[in-house]
Amino acid sequence: MNILLIYFTGTYHTRYLTDRLAERFEREGHAVTRHEFFGESGCKTEGFDLVGIGYPIHGFNSPMVFNRFLRGLTFGRGQPYFLYKNSGETFAVNNASSRVIKRLMRKKGAVLRGEYHFVLPYNIHFPYQPDFVRELLYYDSKLTEVLIFDLTHERTRLIRSNFWYDLASFFVSVQKIGGPVNSFLYRADPDRCRRCGLCAKRCPTRNITLREDGLPRFRHRCAMCMRCSFCCPADAISIGFLQGWKVNGEYHLDRVPQGPPERPYITDQSRGFYACFPRTYREIEAAFSEVCRLKEEAGEPLPELERPQSAPFAGEAREEEPASLPGKL
Ligand SMILES: Cc1cc2nc3c(=O)[nH]c(=O)nc-3n(C[C@H](O)[C@H](O)[C@H](O)COP(=O)(O)O)c2cc1C
Ligand code: SF4
Ligand code: SF4
Repeated sequence: MNILLIYFTGTYHTRYLTDRLAERFEREGHAVTRHEFFGESGCKTEGFDLVGIGYPIHGFNSPMVFNRFLRGLTFGRGQPYFLYKNSGETFAVNNASSRVIKRLMRKKGAVLRGEYHFVLPYNIHFPYQPDFVRELLYYDSKLTEVLIFDLTHERTRLIRSNFWYDLASFFVSVQKIGGPVNSFLYRADPDRCRRCGLCAKRCPTRNITLREDGLPRFRHRCAMCMRCSFCCPADAISIGFLQGWKVNGEYHLDRVPQGPPERPYITDQSRGFYACFPRTYREIEAAFSEVCRLKEEAGEPLPELERPQSAPFAGEAREEEPASLPGKL
């Protein structure tokens, strides 16, 4: 198959996921083209047998800037596509997050072949512990195998929403005005800022320009993706009314050790915020076991969960990054 993966990413988690999916499809002998949204208005979609659409969940929705970008694309009638989304937790309302994209793709006549929800660490609210991140990536690698098997064996796997989740997602979607409004409150501390220009260079909506003295100036088309504050080597950017929820420093997902942590981070006794994870793990485990059984019956090799370590990322060159980010892993 000739596969196109179109995605939006704030803090590179969706890019990480896209790279993993691309590697796996390529290992199965498929050709993959990746297109990361970077403020442009179009990309070539003709000639692909399958299109993957990837995004981070923002406030139980897909990012508005990405919806707008997809709306401008042309797809042939009957174009098969799948969704791969990721977020920090799996509260059931997240099941409704693709409702806008599904609607606009339906209008274009495209046909949904599957929807997959990966869990990656929060880039907002609070940072995740290394063992937790490792455990999430372990389950993500199982879900990746499920996705590859489904899409290469004509199997459709959908995520079901309902009226209440759709309604909640719709109400929370008012956060889409939060970015432009919050932009007025974004600031770079002149005493901390090193005038490196990294934030302006990386902002995916080109919302940041540099003043003559090198200090960033924020315009008003922010997607609240967190990339600028996440990447700033001097922790100089304050992010308005989200400042209390700021998480700084990349997780370096490509360097996380393989396999589950020595002791499970999430257990059936996990409560409060963590209570939604055991169900998600069980669902992934069940789907993965089914895939293994079907492969065994068909005499196909069983999935390997190895992730390449320190694989190069697509898109921006990693060497642009300053040597010491305020990281957590
Ligand atoms: C503005 C904003 C809103 C978010 N809302 C949600 C949410 O509703 N549910 C959730 O599980 N995670 C939420 N997250 C966390 C991200 O979905 C998660 O960290 C994701 O992996 C980020 O991917 P990216 O690096 O590709 O942008 C939110 C993050 C941001 C910045
Ligand atoms: S990334 Fe940080 S240090 Fe660099 S220009 Fe932007 S605010 Fe200043
Ligand atoms: S200003 Fe910062 S948070 Fe807003 S879109 Fe640009 S990088 Fe993302």
